Amino acid sequence: QKPYVYITRKLPAKIIRNVESFANVGMWESKNRPVPRSILLEEAKKADGLFTMLSDPIDEQLYRIAPKLKVVANLAVGYDNIDIQGATNRGIAVCHTPDILTETTADLAFSLLLTVARRLGEAMDYVKEGKWNSWSPLLLAGTDVHHKTLGIVGMGKIGEAVARRALGFQMKVIYHNRNRKWDSEKQLSVEYRPFSTLIEEADYVLCLTPLTEETKHLFSYDVFKKMKKTAYFINAGRGQVVVEKDLIRALQDQEIAGAGLDVFEKEPIDGDHPLLKFPNVVALPHIGSASVETRMAMMERSVENIRRVLIGEKPISMVNEEIYQ
Ligand code: GLV
Ligand code: GLV
Repeated sequence: QKPYVYITRKLPAKIIRNVESFANVGMWESKNRPVPRSILLEEAKKADGLFTMLSDPIDEQLYRIAPKLKVVANLAVGYDNIDIQGATNRGIAVCHTPDILTETTADLAFSLLLTVARRLGEAMDYVKEGKWNSWSPLLLAGTDVHHKTLGIVGMGKIGEAVARRALGFQMKVIYHNRNRKWDSEKQLSVEYRPFSTLIEEADYVLCLTPLTEETKHLFSYDVFKKMKKTAYFINAGRGQVVVEKDLIRALQDQEIAGAGLDVFEKEPIDGDHPLLKFPNVVALPHIGSASVETRMAMMERSVENIRRVLIGEKPISMVNEEIYQ
């Protein structure tokens, strides 16, 4: 009897065939809408494995009714949607997709920085709306990137990959992280700063921290107020690291120059979200790792992680290794 794997979003046929080679597959057949909670819970009752999205809360209520569940494979590097302790207590492997998305996500984070600095969103709209009447000296003039200071908050692999890009643009790179990254300091010539110093010194503050108890609501009004008035805030990590109403207030008060956001406190956001009213805010729909190559590789990694757990092997990338001790 093959194990049963439930996939919470419609995936490409090629990926499903891979899962079908070792499991019976159930899938939520929508590309655009997340699986309703009630259906997820029904499916969890019989599932040996769950292939989840970062928008699916996986919690105690689900574990309690899922006696066969052995693996949850999240299509993301972040796993704040999953109760890890609850999974560990039950010996359920929680898997994610680190490493393979590092460079792609760094590309997006750096693009966001360039986009806000050089006002590319406004400039594209300007041309499309037929407003371009003449070349003029300060038309859509933005801010330089080269030789400015980038402050990276959360110096993991993605942070290091962004630092390499920034150094190519001749930026100065400072970082803050829970643990000092001595290797990065040597190899990339990035400099450590306490959080309070970093936010005062950086021309671009890039947030890449995972969402944890310690980082939740880290960026409040006080933090934005301490930033340079000419500084830009870029978030390519998790929206709940920011107090969004404080960011809105900081933009209103012109405490910062603008923001580039790939993530939001509550996703998705509507077209009338207050942040979208600011011309100096660029908003993206959480597409950090969204290249076709990388998303396919992430899906394949999730499949392989599930396969390994279901045949009793260790997965390639997991969050709670301690279940094997
Ligand atoms: C995306 O946000 C991820 O965690 O991979
Ligand atoms: C602008 O196009 C310039 O030639 O400076």
